[in-house]
Amino acid sequence: MNRSVLKKELESGLPILVYDFDGREEEVDMVFYGGAVSWKSIRTLRSVAGGLICYATGMKEAESLGLPFQVEILRSIKGLDRLVKKPVYNDEPAFSLWINHVKTTTGISDRDRALTVQSLHEIITGLNEKGSDFRERFYQEFYSPGHVPLLISRGIGRRKGHTELTVELMNLLGLERSVVFAEMLDEGISMKKDKVMDFAKYRGFIFIEGKEILKEVSS
Ligand code: 5RP
Ligand code: CA
Ligand code: ZN
Repeated sequence: MNRSVLKKELESGLPILVYDFDGREEEVDMVFYGGAVSWKSIRTLRSVAGGLICYATGMKEAESLGLPFQVEILRSIKGLDRLVKKPVYNDEPAFSLWINHVKTTTGISDRDRALTVQSLHEIITGLNEKGSDFRERFYQEFYSPGHVPLLISRGIGRRKGHTELTVELMNLLGLERSVVFAEMLDEGISMKKDKVMDFAKYRGFIFIEGKEILKEVSS
């Protein structure tokens, strides 16, 4: 893995393609850096990748903002706790709240989702650089439920989903823990790894696998 090439690519607003692992979802997510997202990135995520567009950050940021996991909320409500089950790949989901920026209209257009993501990135950056004022800004500038699901990384030692892989990758590259991604879909199914690799070659996008990220973490 060439870290400086990856960093440059992400900072310039280009997506990378990240495969998780054989035996897990066996899925590829298209990933943009939160600090370089424009409405065109959202358009690419929905029209080229096609999966659910999610924003992921780290546990530290989630704790600073007071964000819970959705499973914690459900477990705390009698009756609804029966909905908490593990998916087939056996990981507790990374989902937290779904939010919109207060200045969005429908919340779902490319420009609206870009505004939500860009503002959230500003807050994540501000929290890490300046602290608690930005927690207050979060509660003033967003409402929930909205159209952008927030995912929280539990750390690569505890879970190995795209959430943890991409947040860990930001750590490795020295970027903010702030990413936006969506699954690459195909005709009725997730796009197979080989097909994504051909697509990456054709478009000149970087393709990496979870195992390469794990190798970097342990090196
Ligand atoms: C949210 C998902 C996606 O697969 C996304 O990649 C994040 O999930 P995970 O961390 O479980 O891989 O399920 O739509
Ligand atoms: Ca995934
Ligand atoms: Zn998925």
